[in-house]
Amino acid sequence: MKKSDVVSEILKDRLYVSPKNKIGEAYAPTNIALCKYWGKRNQELNLPVTSSLSISLADKGAAVSIKVNSVDQVILNNVILTPDSGFSQRLFKYIDLFRIENSIFFQINIQSNIPIAAGLASSACGFASVIKALNHLYAWELSNRELSILARLGSGSASRSIVHGFVEWHVGKRDDGMDSYSELIEKEWPELCIGLCILNRDEKKISSREAMQRTIETGSLYPAWPAKVAVDLSLLRQAITSNDFELLGRTSESNAMTMHATMLSAWPAISYCLPETLVTMQKVWKLRDEGLSLYFTQDAGPNLKLLFLKKDLHFVVEQFENVEVVNPFR
Ligand code: PMV
Repeated sequence: MKKSDVVSEILKDRLYVSPKNKIGEAYAPTNIALCKYWGKRNQELNLPVTSSLSISLADKGAAVSIKVNSVDQVILNNVILTPDSGFSQRLFKYIDLFRIENSIFFQINIQSNIPIAAGLASSACGFASVIKALNHLYAWELSNRELSILARLGSGSASRSIVHGFVEWHVGKRDDGMDSYSELIEKEWPELCIGLCILNRDEKKISSREAMQRTIETGSLYPAWPAKVAVDLSLLRQAITSNDFELLGRTSESNAMTMHATMLSAWPAISYCLPETLVTMQKVWKLRDEGLSLYFTQDAGPNLKLLFLKKDLHFVVEQFENVEVVNPFR
């Protein structure tokens, strides 16, 4: 099955309508997985090997506006990108799925407040905001479930960026992926804080797509990953329902460490850690030994995301220079 088959299945006749609005506008938050998505069972449709669970980062994300234009053009943070830039090409390859007339072109204006491709899930909010903006431009009136499936075709983690709050992306069983979508977990946790420790802003050298594939093909520890995810998902659901921060932190940190262990077991081994990543991890462990309730998670990049409660905000900010704090339920 191709991506375009999924698009036709969801949009049906609506694929043939012309833009109903002059401009399509939308915002999508980025999200950080507490239980990671690592491995695809279908590379074309970005269907995952396991379910995953994330928290959306409120005002950290991407705002997009799309309008019909005389040529295809992407403006990213007020800079016009050249048509052959990797970012522009990836974006228009996605837009092409929804463009049945070859004579229609778009200007896509993206304002993103997170570093692109540094393991801070920029593609998650990027594709989620683009599909939401197209939904607005064409007045398709898609449900969050449908938006999540279509966002997934751009990037797996984008399927979790359609809504705010805690989100679970269901693995699904079907080959067409119609049952692999994300859903809000109806629980707020206002005391929860996420600290973004940006240790390096460079673009990553190995994409998450390539790293996942190499891990699946060669990682001797990968076979243990699905069982680890099943346990962690159940612990995280329990932690969220009962406001058990220690359980949430411990499970998230252990899940991230295990994901990175599967990559270390691949050949050639993959490590997204820089020396500063390890120094920061050790600092978290030391502070925790001294009694602070502080945990971290790490994605496909060297930056860490700290997990802590509002009562410890001042102390954490004092300890970690340049940490940017997000309160997902503000
Ligand atoms: O959506 P992708 O292809 O960028 O993959 C995301 C992978 C991780 O960020 C490492 C994990 C996750 O669940 O977000």
